[in-house]
Amino acid sequence: MTDPAVTYASYLKIDELLALQEPRSQGPEHDELLFIVIHQVYELWFKELLHELDRVRQWLEDDEPHRAQHTLKRILSIVKVMVAQLDILETMTPLEFRTFRERLEAASGFQSDQFRQIEFVLGVKSQGAIRRFPEESRARNALERRYQEATLWDGFLRYLSREGYVVPLVHLDRDVSVPIEPSSEVQRILLAVYRDDPKNAELCERLVDLDEGIQEWRYRHVKMVERTIGTKRGTGGSAGAAYLQETVGRPLFPDLWEIRSQL
Ligand code: HEM
Repeated sequence: MTDPAVTYASYLKIDELLALQEPRSQGPEHDELLFIVIHQVYELWFKELLHELDRVRQWLEDDEPHRAQHTLKRILSIVKVMVAQLDILETMTPLEFRTFRERLEAASGFQSDQFRQIEFVLGVKSQGAIRRFPEESRARNALERRYQEATLWDGFLRYLSREGYVVPLVHLDRDVSVPIEPSSEVQRILLAVYRDDPKNAELCERLVDLDEGIQEWRYRHVKMVERTIGTKRGTGGSAGAAYLQETVGRPLFPDLWEIRSQL
């Protein structure tokens, strides 16, 4: 027997997709569908972002800066869409959110393993984030693997070293699980890149775009949280907006920001 012809619905698994939104409130409350859909859409974008971030690291490893830039541009477009999507959720008032919030129990974006995976690729790693997930779960295995992996910044420095820049060994061989600290030696190299090496300076600019894009998402998310729940604690158990404020404005690639006043 031949397989049935591929259709839009069979290829994209539309029936399965449309069955995945299960409101918990009685009624159900009107706004809960939006809340579920928007989080699911985010998780799909997170999946795509990870796919593309892996690609950028590979292009850098293959010494393909133009292709790395091309993929970074796609990543930035996705981040912009992710930021813009918050506008939709901000149409939900505090009272509308209250109609179903307690049904979320302890569920929170705090528990998004894909968001943590993105942070890990970008250099924000922590053992605590891994331990929140059960051993041998998909989430835990993915985070453990990414904890050991070189970050995008490590990949970039190794690429620069192959381009002929004298990147000190301490940076090329560093423990990739520790936070990225500013370094005056790396800053000296970046200044040279910006002044005399337009191809790689462009690559630096795309990394700054990415860094700024992620910071923008954090800022917009905390503002949305403030206007929706004020100073209430988060369902994930944190202090809520006060906790999120601490994560805002922290650059991913500090050296790229440090050098700007010297250019
Ligand atoms: C009404 C909407 C929302 C509210 C009130 C809200 C609230 C919060 C709060 C209070 C936290 C701190 C952790 C906690 O204790 O729960 C948090 C973290 C987080 N939320 Fe949301 N959130 C909302 C929508 C979203 C959406 C649409 C996403 C997209 C995936 C998202 C992703 C995250 C992530 C990734 C974290 C962890 C951030 C970090 O640890 O740096 N949130 N959220």
